[in-house]
Amino acid sequence: MKKSSRESWSGQLGFILASAASAIGLGNLWRFPYLTAKYGGGIFLLVYFLLLLTIGAMLMTTEIALGRKTRLSPLHGFGKLVKSWSFLGILFVAVSAVILPYYIVIGGWILKYVFAYAFIPQEITDAAHPANTAFFSNFISNPSQSLLFAGMFFAMSALFIVMGVKNGIEKMNKILMPALFFLAIAIAGYVCMQPNAIEGIKYYLVPDLNKFYVETNGTSHFSFTMLCKTIVAAMGQMFFSLSLAMGIMVTYGSYMKKSDNIENSTWHIEFCDTIVAIIAGLMIIPAAFAFPPAGQTGIEAVSQAGPGLLFETLPRVFTQMQAPKMITLSFFVLVLAAALTSSVSMMETLQSSIKDKMKWSRKKSVTILSVYILIMMIPHSLCYSNACKGFFSKKILGMEFLSLNDFLANSVLMPLGAFALCIFVGWILKPNFIIREIETKGNTFKLKKFYSLTIKWIAPIFIAIILVTCILSGLKIIDI
Ligand code: TRP
Repeated sequence: MKKSSRESWSGQLGFILASAASAIGLGNLWRFPYLTAKYGGGIFLLVYFLLLLTIGAMLMTTEIALGRKTRLSPLHGFGKLVKSWSFLGILFVAVSAVILPYYIVIGGWILKYVFAYAFIPQEITDAAHPANTAFFSNFISNPSQSLLFAGMFFAMSALFIVMGVKNGIEKMNKILMPALFFLAIAIAGYVCMQPNAIEGIKYYLVPDLNKFYVETNGTSHFSFTMLCKTIVAAMGQMFFSLSLAMGIMVTYGSYMKKSDNIENSTWHIEFCDTIVAIIAGLMIIPAAFAFPPAGQTGIEAVSQAGPGLLFETLPRVFTQMQAPKMITLSFFVLVLAAALTSSVSMMETLQSSIKDKMKWSRKKSVTILSVYILIMMIPHSLCYSNACKGFFSKKILGMEFLSLNDFLANSVLMPLGAFALCIFVGWILKPNFIIREIETKGNTFKLKKFYSLTIKWIAPIFIAIILVTCILSGLKIIDI
């Protein structure tokens, strides 16, 4: 999609598919299951749904409408509308710049599994077998391996950009994404029929309010901080997964036709994205109960879940399934394709923002961006190893470098961006600016009253309370 000519999507379906393809990626398959496992299963899912139906939907509608109305890229758009708000575009670009390097590192982890399954040894006890308990930790703690695979994933994304085949991979994805979807359903179906999986399904789907209670001195009491932490995690996940609060949907909206219905498109995109996330969860969380790691119970495995959950759980499932090599290999190849489209699209948007802002040539902006990614890849790849005497694995605020940046982008910068967007649209432009855009060409905006209320009051107040509580509790200033 060339910016200069500002062509339109082929129609509403084209728009929905393209937006869903951008939304579906590692966020759904890798990040959603481990966060849900970590934050109490059903209760996290409930919070996630409530956010999706309220703030998420209204923000997505806003971004798409803003893009279609102004036909500008986010970096310039805000400043052109109101000069003093150009910082919002910069904040959005900064979020992508924080996410992209670690997205590439996780893409490298997927690539490692593609290789491992392509050359899989016979015996599980072999260290090169992905179902070997030590496989994942050996891999991420090996500096040259993790750098090598992240570098390869980066090279693949860069190659697509340089060859300008973005449209080609988007077309390819129309076949690959449904294939991934059906394969994931089949795996989830198998997992859910295993003994003990029911415990995992319950954990995943049934909200348990007790998760918000903590025990101090033998008495249990409701913890507001715990509630806020869960909400922040769910909200960050929603932004990440729907590619919100980073200007992506503004750009996508700028290519949308005036006659298309923005409100309906929002619900369709959210539906596609969420269904994939739910299936990924059904594939991984019950598997942690049915096939827990040696020496752990299912509940221990999920409550200690971290970024490795997908990588550690699935190989055990595949071994139990005695799945043919072709199936396991295709699964990771399909996940790789989903990750690649997302990283290519993120790189492309970042590149064009830099190009427009600095008035550089495409070649120069791609080169500078590549240098930035290659440098940033180093601490992200080495943060689980002892390389350089453990310099990169030093924990900051109790987190490794990768988790720290993930937290910074999703739990701090994105809520800040979303808060600022609400103030900008709700109070400076006024909700009618967006409502009028949605209602052009005879479309009606069914939720317009709710929209105004959410964008002016509910969303900004809610986000501010949650964010402030989390930051203060993170800094150990309050504990309620
Ligand atoms: N939503 C994508 C995912 O779930 C990740 C993502 C965030 C993204 N921002 C993006 C993808 C921008 C493409 C463009 O994995």
